[in-house]
Amino acid sequence: MIFKRFLHSNLTRKIGFAFDIDGVLLHSNSPIPRANDALKLLHARSIPFILLTNGGGTLEHERAEFISKKLGVEIKTSQLVQSHTPFKKLVPTFENILAIGPHTVRQVAENYGFKNVIHSSDIIRYNNIITPFSGLRNQNDELMKISKNIKNIHETKFDSILIFNDSRDWGGDIQIISDILNSDNGRINTKRSYKSEVPSIPIYFSNKDLLYSNGYNINRFGQGAFRYIVRELYRKLNDGKELQDNIYGKPFPVMYNFGKECLEKQAGKINEKDIYMIGDNPNSDIIGANKNGWSSCLVRSGVYQDGDKLDDDHTPGLLVNDVYEAVETVLKNNQ
Ligand code: G3P
Ligand code: MG
Repeated sequence: MIFKRFLHSNLTRKIGFAFDIDGVLLHSNSPIPRANDALKLLHARSIPFILLTNGGGTLEHERAEFISKKLGVEIKTSQLVQSHTPFKKLVPTFENILAIGPHTVRQVAENYGFKNVIHSSDIIRYNNIITPFSGLRNQNDELMKISKNIKNIHETKFDSILIFNDSRDWGGDIQIISDILNSDNGRINTKRSYKSEVPSIPIYFSNKDLLYSNGYNINRFGQGAFRYIVRELYRKLNDGKELQDNIYGKPFPVMYNFGKECLEKQAGKINEKDIYMIGDNPNSDIIGANKNGWSSCLVRSGVYQDGDKLDDDHTPGLLVNDVYEAVETVLKNNQ
């Protein structure tokens, strides 16, 4: 009934939507109730939308296909912005990169155009004494399956470390990242002779989410927790100097600018305040939308729980139960 009412009414101006994925559309790989109805409604009205997630780890077209199947709504590759999607713009800057995340990030990085991509598992395969506490070093079959034998890996001068997605091997990855940040000019098996807040080569994290929602009743650690440990160890090894790092993903402008570009490719010019970010995390989705001039809408199906304190920057324009209610309310307010 409600669906029909919104299907036929006119909007007073052009609006667009950006949906977070984890905690808004999906919990891990399971659809959140009514998420498909929310997207179907927009499809039927030809209202432009994108998915803007701090997640990733696989190619955009694979993830778009996967979500399309899960939700029964067509999502085009051009409608999906993952936190590492803007890494594409770094391709001309860095030739030799260390890619961190599940082994699938090798393919993502190569597909973006990075010339020489080394995954942390390749370093463990080269010499597993480098990572005494890696979860991979004792799983020979898995290691052989996901890693590559790279000749002269010790001669590679890494240009940057890119954390595409959450580490699947904290013990190994923390050791390797720390070694390279403190190396002589980005080479493994070396150690620089000075302390500095500037690492030997630049490091890029693709998000800073301390917590995210996967459907378990308590929020889980995200990439921000991993980053916290990397930074603490760097500080200890560098006489208290803070690591100078780079962070992408929500809530930073890089992600909202990229998202706006994608929406405008679909629908032409849209004013910032007419883009509605529907998110579950006040510390990424909501503060990011507020600071970038977008409208914000917080759902109760993910990270945020009633009673959590929200200061002005984190306060959404709307607070609703789920994504369908978000879409329904925004449409109602704009007709
Ligand atoms: O790793 C995923 C997570 O940190 C957040 O994803 O879709 O809630 O932005 P999303
Ligand atoms: Mg989320």
